[in-house]
Parts: sequence; C-alpha cells; structure tokens
Amino acid sequence: MIAFILNNKVIKTQVKSGMTLLHFIRENQGLKGTKSGCKEGDCGACTVLSGTLEKDNSIAYKSITSCLTPMANVHGKHIVTVEGLNLKNELNVAQQAIKDNFATQCGFCTPGFVNSLSGLALKHTSITEIDGIDALSGNICRCTGYKSIEKAAHEVTHKLQEKDHKNELEWLVENKFVPTYFKNIPTKLKNLNTEKNNTNGILVSGGTDLYVRHADTLLGQDIQNATNFVSDKMLFADSKCTIGAGASVTDLMENKQLNSYFPNLKQHLRLLSSEQIRNMASLGGNFVNASPIGDMAIFFLALNSSLLIQNSIAETREVSLKNFFLDYKKIDLKDNEFIQSLSFKLPDKNTHFNFEKVSKRTYLDIATVNTAIAISVLDNVVKDAHVSLGGVAAIPKYLHKTSTYLNAKELSIQLILEAQAILQKEISPISDIRGTAEYKRLLARQLFYAHFIALFPHIFQPNDFVV
Ligand SMILES: Cc1cc2nc3c(=O)[nH]c(=O)nc-3n(C[C@H](O)[C@H](O)[C@H](O)COP(=O)(O)OP(=O)(O)OC[C@H]3O[C@@H](n4cnc5c(N)ncnc54)[C@H](O)[C@@H]3O)c2cc1C
Ligand code: FES
Ligand code: FES
Repeated sequence: MIAFILNNKVIKTQVKSGMTLLHFIRENQGLKGTKSGCKEGDCGACTVLSGTLEKDNSIAYKSITSCLTPMANVHGKHIVTVEGLNLKNELNVAQQAIKDNFATQCGFCTPGFVNSLSGLALKHTSITEIDGIDALSGNICRCTGYKSIEKAAHEVTHKLQEKDHKNELEWLVENKFVPTYFKNIPTKLKNLNTEKNNTNGILVSGGTDLYVRHADTLLGQDIQNATNFVSDKMLFADSKCTIGAGASVTDLMENKQLNSYFPNLKQHLRLLSSEQIRNMASLGGNFVNASPIGDMAIFFLALNSSLLIQNSIAETREVSLKNFFLDYKKIDLKDNEFIQSLSFKLPDKNTHFNFEKVSKRTYLDIATVNTAIAISVLDNVVKDAHVSLGGVAAIPKYLHKTSTYLNAKELSIQLILEAQAILQKEISPISDIRGTAEYKRLLARQLFYAHFIALFPHIFQPNDFVV
C-alpha cells in the first residue's frame, strides 16, 4: 500500500507503484490543475511539491515533475498540487504576483509556475534573486513572455527577504504564501503508516531517465523504489567522500561540506537540467543510464571515483568508475546488482577542479560536449591529473593517455598544446543531432584549454591558445 498526504487529504491506495503521480492526481483524484504537457520533464506544467519530514519536525519541500514520478516515490510524502495552495477567498502571494504582473495568458503553464514559486517560498534557506529565477528553470510558457514572469518571481523573492527564519511556517501562513493546513502536516505525516512499500519490479530512483522512455509501460506495473535500500547520505572521513547513490543533484548542490571542497559546485551543477529535474535525478540513475554525455558521470570520472556495488545477497564489490562503462549503454552491473555508493579522494589544497559543458541552450539542455578535470599541481609541476570528456565516444570517457601525459611535467603552454594533441587521438566523436564530429572535436579542444584558463589564470590567457 502507498500512503501519503495529497494537499490536506490522507491517501492510502493500492494502485500500482509504477503509475505516474500525474496520472494519479488527474485521473484518480480528479485534480485537473496539474497539467499534462510534454510528459518528458521538459515543460514543468505538471510541477507539484514533494515534502519530506525532517528530523527536526520541519518539512523539506522540493518541486518535482509529476509526469516522471512513480507513485512508489510519494510514499510517506506530502504532495502539494496547485489546488492545495489555494487560500480560502483570495489569491496566495505567488498567484497574486502572477496576476499583478500580467504573467499569464492561456494559463496552461500557470499552475506549474505557482507551484515552483511556492516551492521557493518553502525553502529553509535565505532566498536571492538568482534562486527566484532558478526555481522557474524547469517551467516553460509559450505565450506570456518571460519578462512578466520574471517580474512576478522578483516580487515573490522580495517579499521572502522579510521571512522570519525562526518561525518559517507561521510566517508563510500569516503572509499568505501557503494555506493554514500546512501547519498540521508534520503531525499528520508522523502519524502516517510509512512502512517500506513494495520491493518488486524494476528499480527506480528519481525516474527522470526511465520514465521519459517507459512511463506508459510502467503505469500498470509495480516498481522498486531505490530509496528503500540505497542511501542518499554523504560521508566525509579520512580525506575521502562517500555519497549514497540515491543522492540527487540538489543534495550535492546543497551540501555545505561538498561546497567547501568545490567552491564552484553550484555554478557547475546549475548546468544540469532544471531545478525540478535536479531535485529528482540521482547519481545512481546517471551512471546506470550510461549516457556518453551524462554530467554526473563526467564530473565524477575526473575525481577518479569508485563505485560500491551490492548484489541481492548483500555481497559487495568495488569498481572504478572509469572501468564501469564498457560500451554504448553497456555497464559493469549484473541483473541482481545495484550501486550502493560512490567514493573519491577529497581534493587537497593543491588540487584544482573544473567542469565545462556546451549545449545548444546554456541551461535545461543535455551537453553536446562536457568535460571535467582534477589536477594537482605543486611548484608549477603536475603531480596528478584526471581528465574526462563526454560526447566524443560511445561512453562517458576517461582520458587515460591525456591524463598520464600531463603527469610529472611543468605546467606550460607547450604542455597543454601537446596534451591536447594526444586528447584528439583518444576520442572518436560521431556526427549526430547535437553536432558534427568535427564540431565536437573543436569543442573538446576549446574546453580542454578552458580548464587551464579557468584554473590557472596567472599562467594562461585565452590568447595563448589562439591558432
Ligand atoms: C528534462 C530532462 C533533462 C535532463 N538533463 C540532463 C542533463 O542536463 N544532464 C544529465 O546528465 N542528465 C540529464 N537528464 C537525464 C537524467 O535526469 C539523469 O541521468 C539522472 O541522473 C537519472 O537519475 P534518476 O534517478 O532519475 O534515474 P532513474 O530514471 O530512476 O533510473 C535510471 C536507470 O538507473 C537505474 N538505477 C537507478 N538507481 C540505481 C542504483 N542505485 N543502482 C542500480 N541501478 C540504478 C534504474 O533502474 C534505471 O535503469 C535529464 C533528464 C530529463 C528528463
Ligand atoms: S508534463 Fe511536461 S514536465 Fe511533466
Ligand atoms: S500562459 Fe499560455 S503557456 Fe504560459
């Protein structure tokens, strides 16, 4: 049985755990405010909020796309649709801001925008204007024009600057961001019977890969929710970081310790899709998806990471991420195995990390070519280097020869030019919808140079690499 709270109503249902939340909301509950648009996670019309009860009795809300969310993933959660954000006789702050700024026309996208803005309001952190825009990164409107929507977002962001962080929920209710019943949700969630549900069927984590392809097939099936046995926790010990394969991209972005080791983490991970997808997309899903342009795969290949893999009888084995990808969409994972966690050596003060991605659109797009580097330099000599490159081979590629070539050599323009020549021999891009093979080679070269210009601006300037 799946038990959760939908708006202010306790739901206990026997529907198949593979059914999408969108289908359940619209067809089983008749709540038509949540719209069905692309059904691929792109448009945001189906955005709802998913709230998880925290240890301190507060609720952590995140925006998600209900078209890619299996019912298994809502077990024990508070799910909020636009109907659940309505106040009694007036508009809530997000709705009012949209109205006042003429940020709606046909209205199809509007419930999604209202939910995303309400999710922003419910965040426990201080909110900046960038957060306001980020919150809408997964919502598309095809008729209003984004300037008026942006103005509405700024208005909401401004109001949130006055939030009383000691009594957040009280403040949000008092200031008409959310209805009063939100105050009772923590107690209601605590009283919900949330014993682990179904453990049969195909394994799903965030659903952002699987459900794009198989939502209709999975509708009538049971699935296994990875959170039943895969952790999303991060551990920092003995100069090593271990991350549960269930951690989402947002979990990484919000982790203070991880940010202290990777100061540009947020900037890098913002390039991965939209806020809704980042809230759902897990590390494990990104590796098993095995896309040659998987951003997480490229990111963690450069950190020379290894995976802990577990089978159905709890035996474990470790495999280096660079050996995990065997061929196009072929990975070193047996049917009875799953990825438990990923670990890597934490960068020391001499180690520098950079991630670059070029896609047709800067945000909300998959890469044409993406790349990362972790390079340790002491007294201008390279001590250790790891370079990864996506979109140039059948797998997310660790560049063995290029990485080795950089080692134990003095950092110079000549070295980078030589290493780049080796890189070109290591890759075999093909022409496809995202670009010609020639274009991808060009991007690979430029992004390789970009790493060094970004990491060592006192040594390298853009003009150094002009040909
Ligand atoms: C609109 C949109 C934009 C996207 N943009 C990007 C992007 O910019 N960059 C990018 O890299 N990706 C992108 N993706 C792809 C996707 O979001 C990522 O690959 C994501 O990390 C997949 O994780 P998930 O948890 O949602 O996977 P799921 O769909 O839950 O699972 C994917 C596969 O992995 C398996 N699996 C999941 N967890 C485990 C585990 N622990 N052990 C073993 N098997 C497991 C599942 O069985 C399934 O076969 C995008 C997707 C969408 C819909
Ligand atoms: S329907 Fe478009 S993101 Fe879900
Ligand atoms: S108002 Fe019509 S799609 Fe946004």
